[in-house]
Amino acid sequence: MTHTMVAEDWDRQTFRVNREAYRSQQLFDAEREQIWGRSWLYLGHETELPNKNDFKVRTLAGRPLIFVRDGEGEIHAFLNSCPHRGTVVCRENEGNAKNFACFYHAWTFRSNGQVSSIPGLDAYPGDEAFRASMALRSVARLEIHEGYVFVAFTADVPPLLEHLGDAADYMTMIEQQHASGMTTLPGTQLYSVRGNWKLAVENAMDGYHFSPTHNTFVGYLRESGFAVTDDDQYAYTLQNGHLLLVLTGHGGRISMIWEPRFGEDERVRTQEHRAEMVQRLGERRAHYVADESHILFVYPNLLLFDIEGLSIRQLEPVSPGVTDVRAWQLVPKEEDPDARALRMRTVVSFVGPGGLATPDDIEAYEAVQRGIEATAGGGANDFSDMSRGLADEIKGVQGRSIDEGAMRGFWRHWVAAVAPAGLSVTGERPESFVTGRDVR
Ligand code: FES
Ligand SMILES: [Fe+2]
Repeated sequence: MTHTMVAEDWDRQTFRVNREAYRSQQLFDAEREQIWGRSWLYLGHETELPNKNDFKVRTLAGRPLIFVRDGEGEIHAFLNSCPHRGTVVCRENEGNAKNFACFYHAWTFRSNGQVSSIPGLDAYPGDEAFRASMALRSVARLEIHEGYVFVAFTADVPPLLEHLGDAADYMTMIEQQHASGMTTLPGTQLYSVRGNWKLAVENAMDGYHFSPTHNTFVGYLRESGFAVTDDDQYAYTLQNGHLLLVLTGHGGRISMIWEPRFGEDERVRTQEHRAEMVQRLGERRAHYVADESHILFVYPNLLLFDIEGLSIRQLEPVSPGVTDVRAWQLVPKEEDPDARALRMRTVVSFVGPGGLATPDDIEAYEAVQRGIEATAGGGANDFSDMSRGLADEIKGVQGRSIDEGAMRGFWRHWVAAVAPAGLSVTGERPESFVTGRDVR
């Protein structure tokens, strides 16, 4: 790809992205190889497999996988393809099984991947060595941070914590919200979006759209007595393509920041829980953990919405114009039943697939995907503008959540990975755009 994909013009203070990036099959194939084939990817949360021999099948970067806890309690991710002739071994979505049997020739495998039996094994030369060589194939790497299970399809990746960098601590902050730790709730929200996966990343990092797109929700908060504000909210570009929005004015947080729609009982619970947090974490850390909402993007496929409640969202690109989204709710392991019920209602009412936010957001990415057909082949018209806040970026002023700085961070990282020759820089480029922060 030699034509310009990302155009930064420091003289004019503009930043533009070629819309082919959302449409092109060739770029989609390059992403599969250069991003999804080479990076750590979020697979699932270890609490999705509470018992020995629990399993889920899950497609990641187009590859069917078996995500399983074996009989000893260890987590694995196997390629869901029979070592014999390639058949999908596990055809159930989820369950609990000591063995997986391939239906084609009836080879069976234990939940740790070892061959359990091969019918007519004596017809193979050196049968025991042969059996040992035919275990289910694992992904190249698997590491876990705070319960989040990541895998890579190449061994050539840095240790997970090095890849996560500053993003790791925001995941720890979620774990620290409650003394008992966090767990996923059973059940997956699964939906398919007719839009490119990168539009979902942009949307999550786009505080600019909040008031106009979600005006129903903003009106509802206002009527319930909560004043929404965009002031003092920031966007950070972390290392390795990870991104962060820090929000303080878009709504309360169950058990941490009370607001009127949560009701009086929750006000009391929040006070008690806040006192416990300060004792456990200290004043400063408790403040960062409790008082800020965070939207964290862990490059390339994980979004953590640590807002009113907690939602884990995983992006699975299917084709340039289609993305499957899977979402789970994360809750404190031990929680008052009324607080849990309020939390579930609140989370689904905003970021759930039928909530007050997500359908609006999906309509936004689908409308972009449809709209950009109008400018296809249109030269300079076929670029999207992401210049908002660039002038502040030049001055080194911390970018706001209602600017487009985090999106620019994403696209700089993307273009370097997928189409390095497609980066065009005009004028003098400032040194670094990475803006970490100290929250310990
Ligand atoms: S392909 Fe699985 S047993 Fe033959
Ligand atoms: Fe939104």
